[in-house]
Amino acid sequence: MTDDKLTLYEEMLPQLAALIEGESEEMSILANVAAVIHEKFGFWWTGFYLVREGELRLGPFQGPVACMHIGCGRGVCGTSWERRETIVVPDVELFPGHIACSSASRSEIVVPIFNKVGDVIGVLDIDSRELNTFDETDKRYLERVTELLTQTIYS
Ligand code: SME
Repeated sequence: MTDDKLTLYEEMLPQLAALIEGESEEMSILANVAAVIHEKFGFWWTGFYLVREGELRLGPFQGPVACMHIGCGRGVCGTSWERRETIVVPDVELFPGHIACSSASRSEIVVPIFNKVGDVIGVLDIDSRELNTFDETDKRYLERVTELLTQTIYS
């Protein structure tokens, strides 16, 4: 399983880089990045929350309807923003304050996105319908995806 995951990530990174090379429209890029990740791995929900006026607001995503406002320090997304670090949640029921947009979501990973001066400008949030979906491999590669976004649109 881990080998398969590695292969998929290794395939996906150059695909994403080629897809967004030369592009500058933030929402178009985020929408297509969410679509690529979502399709490649068949996750339950894949999308972005963006920092706007002191809170996280729903950005481009694939999957079911999601909550539109998340405060700093709230839920997994708001905690990732506050701590400025990736959070892997093996079982959402065991994460205090988890925001349940969908009862089908069982595990998740949230990766902060930084601009070139190191401010968090949003997060990449991915949810799975199975427990224990995300590990160090996902963390490592999804952080490379957010670094690509930093270089392409947030520098
Ligand atoms: N699970 C997130 C909320 C967003 S939805 O899952 C799309 C959280 O607790 O931050």
